Amino acid sequence: MATPEEINSVIEACDIVALVSEYVHLEKTGKNYKGLCPFHNEKTPSFVVTPEKKLAKCFGCGGGGNPITFLEQIENISFGEALERLAERENIKLSGPQAVKKVNPNKKYYDIMNTAVRFYKKSLEASEFGLEAKKYLADRGLDEEVIKAFNIGLSPKTKDSLYKLCKEKFNYLELDMVDVGLIDSYNRDYHDLFVGRIMFPIYDEMGNPIGFSARIFNNPDKNQPKYINTRDTVLYKKGDVIYNLSNAKAEIRKKNRVILHEGQMDVIAAYRSGLKEAVCTMGTALTLSQVQVLKKYTNNVVICYDGDRAGVSSSIKAIKLFKQENFNIHLVLLPDNQDPDEYVKKYGTEEYVKYFENHQLDEYAYVFERAFIGKDLNDSNQVLESRNEIFNILVSSESKIIEERYLRLLANKLQISYDLLLSDYNSYKGFSDDDEFLTSDDYVTPVVNNYSNVFKSNAQIRLFMYAKASKEKALYIDSKLSNMMSGLSLENQILWVNLINNFYEKNDIFDEERFLQSLDNENRAYYFKITDELIKDKNPYNEVDLEACLEKVRLMQIDNENKKLSNQLFNEMDSKAKVDILVNKFKNKQKKNNLQRRAKNGPRDSN
Ligand code: CTP
Ligand code: MN
Repeated sequence: MATPEEINSVIEACDIVALVSEYVHLEKTGKNYKGLCPFHNEKTPSFVVTPEKKLAKCFGCGGGGNPITFLEQIENISFGEALERLAERENIKLSGPQAVKKVNPNKKYYDIMNTAVRFYKKSLEASEFGLEAKKYLADRGLDEEVIKAFNIGLSPKTKDSLYKLCKEKFNYLELDMVDVGLIDSYNRDYHDLFVGRIMFPIYDEMGNPIGFSARIFNNPDKNQPKYINTRDTVLYKKGDVIYNLSNAKAEIRKKNRVILHEGQMDVIAAYRSGLKEAVCTMGTALTLSQVQVLKKYTNNVVICYDGDRAGVSSSIKAIKLFKQENFNIHLVLLPDNQDPDEYVKKYGTEEYVKYFENHQLDEYAYVFERAFIGKDLNDSNQVLESRNEIFNILVSSESKIIEERYLRLLANKLQISYDLLLSDYNSYKGFSDDDEFLTSDDYVTPVVNNYSNVFKSNAQIRLFMYAKASKEKALYIDSKLSNMMSGLSLENQILWVNLINNFYEKNDIFDEERFLQSLDNENRAYYFKITDELIKDKNPYNEVDLEACLEKVRLMQIDNENKKLSNQLFNEMDSKAKVDILVNKFKNKQKKNNLQRRAKNGPRDSN
């Protein structure tokens, strides 16, 4: 492919600091540079770049190497491809045949999406309807430059204009157009999914178009949703999408921070204000995998969500996730429950930046400030809720100074003695030790189930795969599950009961169509979600795994039980009752230990 001399000359020619800086925020220390390793999760930098030796290597995990192996690993490409890219960069000609490029299997889908982006852009330019849309955008402060920067477009009012273009001019396959979520069919009558809306294209990390968010703007029908986003498709995975990341990533690296908003109009408002490192998720709760993607670019985040109760509760959940990945966290709360877009509209971009930069709170100050808003301090229950929220964030602090500081502030606020509060806090701390995933919300209303929690634990849904294989297996699993149903999430319980008591009651062989008929819309949607999820799960199915999955459910059941007990204990005043609860907790802990000892090869879930 290339001679050793050529390879050496590419390495020699490469400015390794510049190369690595495209991926890692580096700081100079003497002759070398240091940064957080992009190949593993760490808090203190152990990734060292030595320009003299042309090396970029992690002393923690051993990742990295010379410029070629670094690029190979970070871009997940072949050695040959990395070599070629660097040679091109340095204008060095390589002898021999070129490396085989990995052909992107999604290319045909990107082609369709690109066609759609262009088509929607053109309809915004060309039509009378486009003028109306432009007027709406202008009212919201979006000028030509912004429209261009975000590739904003317009879907025409006719029901199949994109379909016709794709078919007649490009001859794309219907199936592919359906797969990317642009068209749908009822009995071979194809129609566009986005009609008469402002179109915001959504790109993946590398800048490939993967979906759209479509905003209503002149439709008098109040029943239509404000935004319609691409459903999960071959390209678009709701929980992975980070809006504007491909545009923002250079700026995120440069400023070494990312700003996280709730909606794309907020990201655009930030952009207009010169804060081009802003991104958002698409109307969904933040996920750990999104946080891990952001971690590649920086470990500083400023969260600026809406100021309402929902915004605060999402902020607290986001804090947890960012903490898990060792981010430095700041939060901005805009006055009067405004979102950034509203603030900019009212006060202008300059005022916005001023406010944004001067009102950043760290996570403890933020939670402390928010915990009392809307709470009546004369109501003991509300006081307990506020206290729980604050304790919950302090538990994660690992710093005695922060703990003491906020406990003193809290004691002051509640007008109780510091010592009393401290002992209260210590007992809280002790009890929350084994409740790893407890959020402050869980404390107020214990055991909240939601999809993202469920997906942490594929064991539960893998059991469905076994149960679908045969009735015999299903009944076996059911016999095991019967006294530990609470180890399943609520959605899974519903599915399970339907499968056993409805479906297998009347049928002997699993039939998806018929099973789906027994579910209502919501549960059907959930069923599709878990089926999608399992496609990604490449672990083999076998007897050992089945038992491991059951074991995992048993552990979940004990955990749930313990969470409930922790709550009871915490709010129980009577000391005799406290002892009873403690005894039960202790028994549970023993049960759990026994289970974990027995299951040497525990279930495959990472949590
Ligand atoms: N969202 C959605 N579907 C809806 C409403 C909202 O997907 N029916 C998503 C959008 O991505 C939106 C984000 O959730 O940007 C935040 O919602 P909201 O605060 O209601 O919208 P705004 O961003 O304020 O949108 P706008 O300013 O255009 O009203
Ligand atoms: Mn808004």
